[in-house]
Amino acid sequence: MREAPGFILWLTGMSGAGKSTLSRALCAQLEPMRAVELLDGDEVRTWLSRGLGFSREDRDENVRRIGKVAMLLARHGVGVIVAAISPYRSSRDEVRQMAAAKGIPFVEVYIQASLDALIARDVKGLYKKALAGEILHFTGVSDPYEAPETPEAIVRSDAEPVEVGLARVLDVLRASGLVASVAAA
Ligand code: ADX
Repeated sequence: MREAPGFILWLTGMSGAGKSTLSRALCAQLEPMRAVELLDGDEVRTWLSRGLGFSREDRDENVRRIGKVAMLLARHGVGVIVAAISPYRSSRDEVRQMAAAKGIPFVEVYIQASLDALIARDVKGLYKKALAGEILHFTGVSDPYEAPETPEAIVRSDAEPVEVGLARVLDVLRASGLVASVAAA
């Protein structure tokens, strides 16, 4: 459905919460149906945001750049999936407002997991380092994470399988008229 409208689907949540996993699953589902692009924080930081660190200013700048690119793509009908911690509510809201001003649908999804679960899972070993004081300003440990107050969807990655979260997000997209139908998994 190449004529489907563009949108920005913004996945926010702490490191290791499952943003990348869910975003890849979403891409795989949507790709047969419509134009999609994925902007993942970890990856974007190797090109678009190379050189930026993790101060509030740098994180806000990262989010602003991702938001700008997402807008350019969405304006031309691409369904843009963003996976970035984006810990500050104000910067996420800034992108939401920028999108609204251009009539681009912005769907915010909070990928929620308890800090205990993230520490137990610790796929990249970063929580261990952060707790040992080897990484400063680590989100959720020594730096803030401001959860969305009214996201379009919440996915509890520590309490439900990926497929359940995936189905919920696809439902939201369908209900918003952003995907016409959902291919079987
Ligand atoms: S954001 O805060 O600017 O939105 P982004 O999603 O791009 O962050 O990048 C987060 C990734 O950077 C994490 O998944 C982790 O691998 C890595 N990282 C390195 N240092 C930090 C830190 N201090 N806090 C959080 N993530 C960090």
